[in-house]
Formats: sequence, structure tokens, C-alpha cells
Amino acid sequence: MVGRKALKLVGLGIHMLLVGDAFGKKIADLLGVKFVPFEDRKFTDGELCPRIEFKEISPPGSDAILAINKHSDESINDYTLKAYFLARTLHNSKFRTILVFPYFSYARQDNVFRYGEPLSSNYVAQMFDPIVTNFVTVTAHLQRRTNIATLFDHAKTHNVSGIPALIRQLPSGLKDPYILGPDTESIHWAREMADLMGVRDYGAFTKKRDVNTGEIQVFTGDLDLKDRQVVVVDDMISTGGTVLKSIKLAREAGAREIHVTTVHPILAGGALDKIKAQGVAGIIGSNTMESPISVADVTPDIVEKLKEFMGG
Ligand code: R5P
Repeated sequence: MVGRKALKLVGLGIHMLLVGDAFGKKIADLLGVKFVPFEDRKFTDGELCPRIEFKEISPPGSDAILAINKHSDESINDYTLKAYFLARTLHNSKFRTILVFPYFSYARQDNVFRYGEPLSSNYVAQMFDPIVTNFVTVTAHLQRRTNIATLFDHAKTHNVSGIPALIRQLPSGLKDPYILGPDTESIHWAREMADLMGVRDYGAFTKKRDVNTGEIQVFTGDLDLKDRQVVVVDDMISTGGTVLKSIKLAREAGAREIHVTTVHPILAGGALDKIKAQGVAGIIGSNTMESPISVADVTPDIVEKLKEFMGG
């Protein structure tokens, strides 16, 4: 076991350490397991060389959790490759590794939309599948599949919901809000949020995206939001195109006050400024990735899941 004596998880009968960044440290502290940081090195040419700060060699078959989120100063590709390099190093050092990868990058590319494109969601899953025992993520993008388990042959998968963390950050003054998904598949998140909040009304717009240009069209149906407080919920905000359209349409449907929530605040290309310019009442994201709106902490929900399947 690495470093000074690691804590023993109740009921586990094994010793465990957690390798990670500040996000991972929160999980280590909540679990009460030994935290091992890593040096987040990046060479001038952009190549990554994250080094786990082991103090001593662990016996083969030791258990580790690897937990990192995406930092604001790094690309999604760096986040993905860094997780892979760290997981691979643990695997090669004979650790049985649980990976906490809170943003499942490339999950949206779950289909070959045009001949010659990569099936990226499967490729990312296959990078990790042979080298981790468990793959833990948060609100994975599920559009054309119902379960991320189908992407893995070996690792067990756990898709923790990021919605409770968002709800914990919503203002208490909301009175019977309407929970709105900005596109067809976001009805899942809207239903879940409404159920957990004990709110009656939820629904979703429908969206069509041109696979060549990326241009989107959003349709409201006959939604009546007259004088309502509306909470928009989506799994991710990337360019902001989807949520911006839904804000506009919600206003046209009569919404009085709009709160925007998202599990994964990617916020590419000035999306946050564009949303702020719409005068919404609040914008809440989770800390699956760092951003100016990452106020909703998903680590307690991840820890609950880890305890559930680790038996602690
Ligand atoms: C799409 O299916 C997702 O659930 C999000 O609605 C989408 O990725 C958001 O992207 P953007 O912010 O670029 O419209």
C-alpha cells in the first residue's frame, strides 16, 4: 500500500487509495481513503505526462480509485488523454482501478452520422474498458442508447445522476416551476428533476439538428408557460445554441422567469456570455468540469454510488 497506512472502508476488507486532483480529493475526504495527488505535467509542445506521486511501491492487486474532472484551462482531449494515461499507469502498476470520469467525453458521437466518421463514444469506452474494473460517470449523454453498459465488455458501469446536485443549488423561492427540457431527449432530465422536486409540470421542446451544418431548429408544440417560473435543464451546454433557442421560445410561450441548469457546463465559444445576455434569473452547472457556473457539487452523489457498489 502506498504511503502511510491507508484507511479501511467499512465492510470492504480491502485497503484503497484515491489518485486524483482537487475534485478527486473531495471524494477521498468523503470516503475517508488515502489521497495520492499527481503532478499535472504538460510539455511546451502540448504532450501530457501526468505523474502519480507514489511514495512507495504497492503490492500487486492493490485497489485504487482514479477521479479527475475537466479543468477550465484544459481541452476535453487533454482531460480524456490524462485520464487514460493515469488509468493505464495504475493498471500497469497492477492496481485494480475504479475510474471516476465525471464527464463522459465524446458520448454524443454515439452514431456514425455520415459515412467515414468515428464512432467516438465507443472508442473512448474501449480505451478504458480493459484497464479499469469500474467506470463511474455522471449523467452520460444517452440519446440513441438507454444504457452505457453496452459500450463495455469488461468494466462495470455506473451512471450517477447530476440532477440532484443541480436541484440543491436552485433558489428556494421557486413556486411551482415548470421544468423544461430544451430538446426531445432532455425530457428524461426534465422528468427526473420534476419528480425529485415534487413538481407536477414538466415537458420538452423538440429539436432537429442538421448533421452537415450543425444548425438547429427547435419546436415548442403547444406549450403554455404563461407567467410561469421555468427551470431549463439539459445534460450539457456546449455552444449554447440549444439553450438559447429554448430561452427565446420559453419567453414567447409566456415564461416570466427562467433559470438555466446543466450538468456539464462545457460553455464553448462564449456560450456563457450569450446566455447571460438573455437576462435569465440564474445559470447553474455542476463540477463535473470547472467553469464559472460549476456550483453544484456532484461528489456526494458519486460517493453514495461508490459506497453502494464497493459495499462500504
Ligand atoms: C444534445 O443532444 C445535448 O443534450 C445538448 O442539448 C447539446 O449537446 C447542447 O449543445 P449546444 O449547446 O451546442 O446546443
